[in-house]
Amino acid sequence: MQDKEILLRLFKVIGPYKKLLIISIIAMIAYSAFTTAQAYILKPTVDKIFIDKDLQMLMLIPFAIIGIFLFKAVSYYVYTFFLEKIGQSVIRDLRTSLFTHIHKQPLSFFHDHTTGTLISRVISDITLMQNAVSTALVGCIKDFFQIVFLLGFVFYQDWKLAMSVFIILPVAAIPIVKFGRIFRRLSTSTQEEVAKVSDRLYESITGNRIVKAFCREDYENKRFSNQIASLFSVTIKNAKYRSMQHPLMELIGGVAFAAIFWVGGKEVIHGTATAGTFFAFVVALIAAYEPVKNVSHINSAIQQGIAAATRIFAILDIEPKITDKKGATTLKPFKQTIEFQNVNFTYEDDTTVIKDLNLKIPAGQALAIVGSSGGGKTTLTNLIPRFLDINTGSIRIDGIDIRDVTLASLRSQIAMVTQQTILFNDSIRNNIAYGDLEATEEQIRAAAKAAYALDFVEKLPHGFDSIIGEGGARLSGGERQRISIARAILKNAPILILDEATSALDTESEREVQKALENLMKNKTTFVIAHRLSTIINCHKIIVIKDGNIVEQGTHDELLKLHGEYEMLYNMQYT
Ligand SMILES: Nc1ncnc2c1ncn2[C@@H]1O[C@H](COP(=O)(O)OP(=O)(O)O)[C@@H](O)[C@H]1O
Ligand SMILES: [Mg+2]
Repeated sequence: MQDKEILLRLFKVIGPYKKLLIISIIAMIAYSAFTTAQAYILKPTVDKIFIDKDLQMLMLIPFAIIGIFLFKAVSYYVYTFFLEKIGQSVIRDLRTSLFTHIHKQPLSFFHDHTTGTLISRVISDITLMQNAVSTALVGCIKDFFQIVFLLGFVFYQDWKLAMSVFIILPVAAIPIVKFGRIFRRLSTSTQEEVAKVSDRLYESITGNRIVKAFCREDYENKRFSNQIASLFSVTIKNAKYRSMQHPLMELIGGVAFAAIFWVGGKEVIHGTATAGTFFAFVVALIAAYEPVKNVSHINSAIQQGIAAATRIFAILDIEPKITDKKGATTLKPFKQTIEFQNVNFTYEDDTTVIKDLNLKIPAGQALAIVGSSGGGKTTLTNLIPRFLDINTGSIRIDGIDIRDVTLASLRSQIAMVTQQTILFNDSIRNNIAYGDLEATEEQIRAAAKAAYALDFVEKLPHGFDSIIGEGGARLSGGERQRISIARAILKNAPILILDEATSALDTESEREVQKALENLMKNKTTFVIAHRLSTIINCHKIIVIKDGNIVEQGTHDELLKLHGEYEMLYNMQYT
């Protein structure tokens, strides 16, 4: 992306706040004008009061000074506050749209982007960008007008003296450009390091139990401190250049002032200029040098902001690969069959996981999917709600290709219990009701009861109001699974996907949950990936998946008679 493009997009983001922007621009222009007036008033002050000893002026000038400062204060307040408001509004809008955008992405997006990177985009990149937006606005408007007004005044006062300054000014441009480039590069490396730090933090904190179990605290400490050290070194580099920037600009300013005192002093001594003119000139120049010095700082902020904006827009530009196609219809309530026709699926890294798979499941039946791990069972079930899209072939529900219907209507007919239990740090009630936020207290209780979760929930000190910790950390594995089964029960969808839904249960509770699942499966079409015989034995059909293909299918008894893959699995896993 070109810088120009990025700036244009940034202006679009500010678009909705045009009114505030116009008010703050006016306030900034007023502020610049009053700063110039401040210098202007010095000339009559020095010449009339101190040199001519004019009493009338002595009465007037203090009021004029108060007036100028008052207006300057008001305009400062208006533009600072309004710009901050614009900046914060932009942050709010961008964070919200980035969040929405991330959640539109399919599963594969999350395989490619780490949690740390995404968090760093939403939190720190957006802050960097906002900083650039406010700084840039101040820089481009207030500082610009301040420079124009003050330099205009300086030339008006004494153009010969002003010229001597302009010989020095181009020298100041060199560090401005150089520092800008450096800060832009550093911004990118800083953000990369921040993302890596977030990744390390996230993984080691969520995985703290494994860290402890394998006594890897020292190892993790070391990995983390290495990561922090790389972040430290780029931050220090940043600090080094930032500390250099200011004094360098001051130094250039100092040289300019030396030249002025030399040229201007001569003029006053020779009587070609008054002392008042000279003081007003110097004060205006000091005031003008502030914004000139700022240009360097503003440029750095803009460069960092552009780098951050490039990263943010890069995420926003990733078109969600799986979306409703144009003219997508609503999937009618599922009635007849789910059919896989010559389905192929390949992950982005070119591993083909599902190969030319054909399958037909009539409504109301249960299909068990078995096979050794890595065979593609989970992948197969992820294709049905379109978490992943197939490469060739088609999946049809009641004869309609699932890519022709809206995602919402498709997913609303599917309830899932995933292999890794995913719960939110909220109350048990809200976790169960996740699929239907309007569910009544009775419905929630009934779902918990059917999932055999009611007993343990009621034993908790706060019952359904108990907060379960991040990912359900305060529950046992079996309890977590039962909550996620209750969540699926409550959704009451016609198609049910159970991916090793009972793997974390002990034999006794599994037997109970098994009954619950049987009740749940009664009028539903179910895909069951199970690791225990009891779950699959009653299914209408069992398919054995090996290397992405169905190698055997039939009922339990039929499959045993084949003396093939199923028998082998059966002997190894289920007995
Ligand atoms: N995001 C991914 N990118 C590439 N390959 C993957 C990805 N996820 C899973 N796989 C591969 O796909 C195969 C099937 O995985 P999976 O469907 O989870 O198997 P199962 O559920 O049968 O154990 C495995 O070989 C696995 O390595
Ligand atoms: Mg699996």
